[in-house]
Amino acid sequence: MKASRCLYPGSFDPVTLGHMDVIRRAAAIFDTVAVGVLHNPEKKGCFSVEQRMDMLKRACQGIPNVEVISYGGLLAQLTRETGISVVVRGVRGVNDLENETAMARINRQLNPALETLFLPASPEMGEISASMVRQLAAFGADLSTYVPKEALPVIRAAFQAP
Ligand code: PNS
Repeated sequence: MKASRCLYPGSFDPVTLGHMDVIRRAAAIFDTVAVGVLHNPEKKGCFSVEQRMDMLKRACQGIPNVEVISYGGLLAQLTRETGISVVVRGVRGVNDLENETAMARINRQLNPALETLFLPASPEMGEISASMVRQLAAFGADLSTYVPKEALPVIRAAFQAP
């Protein structure tokens, strides 16, 4: 069946401009993009799922065909439950490609109806990662070229000295 909807899953801890680039490009291809925020109780993120979703919703306000959801458990399970048959993932380089290929293969074994599409990161986004943003934030660096402006207040507040 042809797909009008895709899922862009991730930790988004926090959302970066690299993520936003993938979301915008996916939104130009698909009628609807569901951005899925992984809720993993065993892996406590830097930001709560609510904060991550809030940052994403604010950053995606100008893109009408984007919805933000959360999920726990397996991606394959979520795609079965929602009937979404295409997962989009951004790929920055060979390391990402290797990891993402393994994940895509496993997901397809778990849900044979599921395809994963890779979008190569735009050159200016190639070095951005959420873990790098967290490190820079911890040392008070300027984050404006790495994260959407809507996320800045939440990130600053989280790293502010008490
Ligand atoms: O932003 P990330 O951390 O690169 O996203 C990875 C994510 C959240 C998409 C992935 O780890 C995930 O969905 N995990 C849930 C468990 C699962 O389904 N794993 C895939 C089979 S290996």
